[in-house]
Amino acid sequence: MRVVVATSNAHKIIEMGEILSPLGIEVLGADAMGGMPEVVEDGTTFEENAAKKAQAGALAFHCPVLADDSGLEVLALNGEPGIYSARYAGEGGNDGRNLAKLLKKLEGIEDRRAQFVCCIAMANADGSLRGTVRGIVTGRIAEGARGTGGFGYDPGFIPDGYDQTFGELPAEVKNGMSHRGNALKEAVKVFFSGRD
Ligand code: IMP
Repeated sequence: MRVVVATSNAHKIIEMGEILSPLGIEVLGADAMGGMPEVVEDGTTFEENAAKKAQAGALAFHCPVLADDSGLEVLALNGEPGIYSARYAGEGGNDGRNLAKLLKKLEGIEDRRAQFVCCIAMANADGSLRGTVRGIVTGRIAEGARGTGGFGYDPGFIPDGYDQTFGELPAEVKNGMSHRGNALKEAVKVFFSGRD
């Protein structure tokens, strides 16, 4: 079985492939389908933004489509950067600058609890929304960036039960417990149980 994911983010496509291929599901990214349509991510929740991306993808590609909207919520910052995780450092920002901004904001703050959230939406071929599911992983923000694995805030996030960051842990360890892994497991149960 193949599933189309409405994203051009190579890291997300790789992770989704690593998680879904053992289940016999092949992941195709938007670039393989002719390119991701323009989507304004102006929703106020991960669910809304994921639904927008899935529905835009389904209408553009004329097939059922999954989309992921995800981010990091830091308790001491009232859930920041949240839905703004990808653009936290502003115009011209990147993963390194986003994490640097977060680490700076948390300087001197003892409570470093945080969670990654991943919402996955599925749209039918006609663009209607089939539903959304959510996965989380809880942990804490490290004192500095460590490791080169993963992407985004991974070098700054230590999952509960570990001392290493997601940037230091092997991909299979991250995928086995991550917000994206958990959301995808739920998505397979909810969306693909009948395999249509
Ligand atoms: P989105 O592409 O609009 O969903 O933005 C997701 C952003 O959240 C990414 O650019 C990262 O900054 C962050 N993020 C989401 N998932 C992860 C992850 O697994 N590791 C590290 N950062 C993540």
